[in-house]
Amino acid sequence: MISRSEIVEQHETYLSKHKIPLYSEFGWEIIEGRREGVFLWDLDGRRYFDCHVCGGVYNMGHRNRKVVDAVMRALGHLDLGNHHLISTERSQLAKKLVLSAGEASSGEHMGRVVFASGGGEAMDFAFKMAKGFTGKSKILCLEGGYHGHTGLSMGAGDEKYTKAWNYRPEGFVKVEYEDLSRIEDFFDEDTAAVSLETIPATLGMNIIPRDVMQHIRKVTREHGVLLVLDEIQTGCGRSGKTWAFQHYDIMPDIFATGKGLSGGIYPIAATLYRDEMETVFEKNPMIHFSSFGGSEIGCAAAEVVIDHATDAGFLAHVNALSSYFREAVNDLAARSNKVAGLRQIGLFQAIEFVDVATCIATVRRLNANGVFCIFSNNDRVCVQFMPPLTMTLQEAGELMGLVRLSVDEAEPIDLASSDFFRTQTQARVRNVQRQL
Ligand SMILES: Cc1ncc(COP(=O)(O)O)c(C=O)c1O
Repeated sequence: MISRSEIVEQHETYLSKHKIPLYSEFGWEIIEGRREGVFLWDLDGRRYFDCHVCGGVYNMGHRNRKVVDAVMRALGHLDLGNHHLISTERSQLAKKLVLSAGEASSGEHMGRVVFASGGGEAMDFAFKMAKGFTGKSKILCLEGGYHGHTGLSMGAGDEKYTKAWNYRPEGFVKVEYEDLSRIEDFFDEDTAAVSLETIPATLGMNIIPRDVMQHIRKVTREHGVLLVLDEIQTGCGRSGKTWAFQHYDIMPDIFATGKGLSGGIYPIAATLYRDEMETVFEKNPMIHFSSFGGSEIGCAAAEVVIDHATDAGFLAHVNALSSYFREAVNDLAARSNKVAGLRQIGLFQAIEFVDVATCIATVRRLNANGVFCIFSNNDRVCVQFMPPLTMTLQEAGELMGLVRLSVDEAEPIDLASSDFFRTQTQARVRNVQRQL
């Protein structure tokens, strides 16, 4: 059997040379072995609560039995399917997705779906659609937001990524979190859309206040600017509702889902849009394809996910866990001078610390104590705390015990001693709203 050190050596030689030293700074030296439910194990047998869940990919836990069974059944008689042909599986899933978005009190609802193989591709399509439908080219997006590393999606994200690849995206205008309440000041005659993660994840899960989000929806509608929401992390039940925008009683014009839609078993993503945008395809229906987008095996996994994410009992469980963590972390904040509070909608959560050094130190202790997690890279004062939605209350109690222990053990580190942590040493967003 191949040894641990041989695997590390192969990774360094044939995959990434520079990630491993960095991972050791976070305490992330894990080689994934067995995985089941809310846990993953290192090859050496160390068990970790998975509180990273790959940004929501493992919302349903690892190797969820119902998802695995559905995919196994699909493998018995299907393959990926030909993306040009009419598909039973894609049609049924598209209907489920559209219905899952429901109707806002304004009467607005979603119309149609284009499938993709991953989140970046789904956001690329969202931007293509916004530009194609409006005939305009500017997209307003959040400074410090994240939508993927593909073409347009990367353009909508942080400059550190585009700069590194010598890519100068055109038409993406960045707006600070604090300026969202006056988004209309950034509109001009060439503005196609405002694009946001419904709750910005990489920027630290700062909750956009209800009145600000409703204002954005109102002024975008008034000015003929589209609202694009990225639900790739926030969707599929993570927020305690099927889609996080439902907390705001708004309907976007376009939204994207991915990650958790896969059930953690088979990749699939999707972009949903309002019915009238279908006119973009009128002259030429053959202007967009994705060979693996909406593969029929992926559809089988996604159906199970959407059935759960729209089930009242499943969502009630997510909300019960959410209340438990809110109380537990608020208690911790009250008795600790290290924890500032919990940023949270449902189980979309980040624990905020008093400063970046304390956060990074706690992340290291959490990983050392068997809680796999990471800080928000664009707001390193908080650790993303995303347990699978299928966690039991008993497991949640055990997990909080490890969180308390790790906070107690954490000693603030010298950020200047690390090349990586020498950058962005302050909380990035001021006046954070932690809860809706
Ligand atoms: C909010 C958000 N949007 C888009 C993406 C891109 O998804 P993918 O990695 O599947 O391309 C991510 C991935 O982390 C994400 O967090």
